[in-house]
Amino acid sequence: MIRTPMTEVFGIQHPIMLAGMNWISSPRLVAAVCNAGGLGTLAIAQYSPEDTRKQIRQIREMTDKPFMVNQPLYRGWAKENIQAAIEEKVPFINYSLGKPWFIDQVHAYGGKVVGTIAIARHAARAAELGCDALIVTGHEAAAHGADATSLVLTPFVTSMVKIPVIAAGGFYDGRGLAAALSLGAAGISMGTRFILTQESPVHDNFKQLCLKATEQDTIYSSAFDGMPGRALKTPLAEKIAQGDSFSLLRAIPNALEIKKILKQNWGQFLGTAWKMMSGEGGDFVQMARLANGTMRHQKAIYDGDTKEGFMFAGQVTGPIRDLPPVKTLIDRIMAEAEATLRKTGALAAS
Ligand SMILES: Cc1cc2nc3c(=O)[nH]c(=O)nc-3n(C[C@H](O)[C@H](O)[C@H](O)COP(=O)(O)O)c2cc1C
Repeated sequence: MIRTPMTEVFGIQHPIMLAGMNWISSPRLVAAVCNAGGLGTLAIAQYSPEDTRKQIRQIREMTDKPFMVNQPLYRGWAKENIQAAIEEKVPFINYSLGKPWFIDQVHAYGGKVVGTIAIARHAARAAELGCDALIVTGHEAAAHGADATSLVLTPFVTSMVKIPVIAAGGFYDGRGLAAALSLGAAGISMGTRFILTQESPVHDNFKQLCLKATEQDTIYSSAFDGMPGRALKTPLAEKIAQGDSFSLLRAIPNALEIKKILKQNWGQFLGTAWKMMSGEGGDFVQMARLANGTMRHQKAIYDGDTKEGFMFAGQVTGPIRDLPPVKTLIDRIMAEAEATLRKTGALAAS
């Protein structure tokens, strides 16, 4: 048993979190992590507010444990989704890529807000704003990050803020958990490792590609969806990163597909597009990349289409070699972390 500020603040058994991952961190996977003693996070960026509510209710049918939702705030429909989560009184709300306006509302019903950051000065700001905990994402991570690796960023941020810090990016086993605790973190968040489990909804074609990949087989580029992010190296991912496959024309049907998925009317759709274009760093090319990237991501994850789809993945895809059930994985990580900490402690005692 390892008790940390993360297990205390979130009322969970183990300091292990399922990262919010678009299309992947779905109710079944969230509930599996919660029921195994970890903290499950539902990604809601790809849902309409009604679907966000449905998914939250589905989780509540599968577990009575606390869970979290994750929403990147730069998406034009973030406000409505966050509002739906607040009305559902989700215990923990995790945001990324933006500034939270809802901290007091969440605190008012006894909930907690968790900020995701990849730059140290953003961590200090999030703590000042009133966040209850932080997820700190290193460069090794799948999807969006910045330049500093977990080894540099984690101890830097833990010495800057007083709230619990959850280290993300590059974690997949008990040695990593022990290392994160040694760096001052209160626990770890894992994305790629949970993609490679029995309960993950990712198509087997991409699970098998990840299992075969080495630690060198990811690409970091802003061509995937308009923001710097890390994806599994495939022939299509290489083409996208080189700029060979970018098409403004393809963005139109893809944007219309997203409108359908989000169940938006034309007013909502155009309002969303306007909000995103006028936001920080938003422009037409970035929006086109996001539309193309979103649909290509879905093709990989749900259809297993290796020719038309790409998938975000972290460098840990290299060492991961199996597809265990979630509970087996979490129990294994905890046993290995305890053994590692005992071994490390013995070094200091001798
Ligand atoms: C397919 C995929 C989708 C992701 N979508 C989101 C998202 O919607 N919101 C978010 O904050 N992070 C997202 N992430 C990043 C993860 O939350 C997390 O930071 C990352 O997976 C941690 O690195 P690791 O894969 O090395 O464990 C995504 C990651 C992947 C692999």
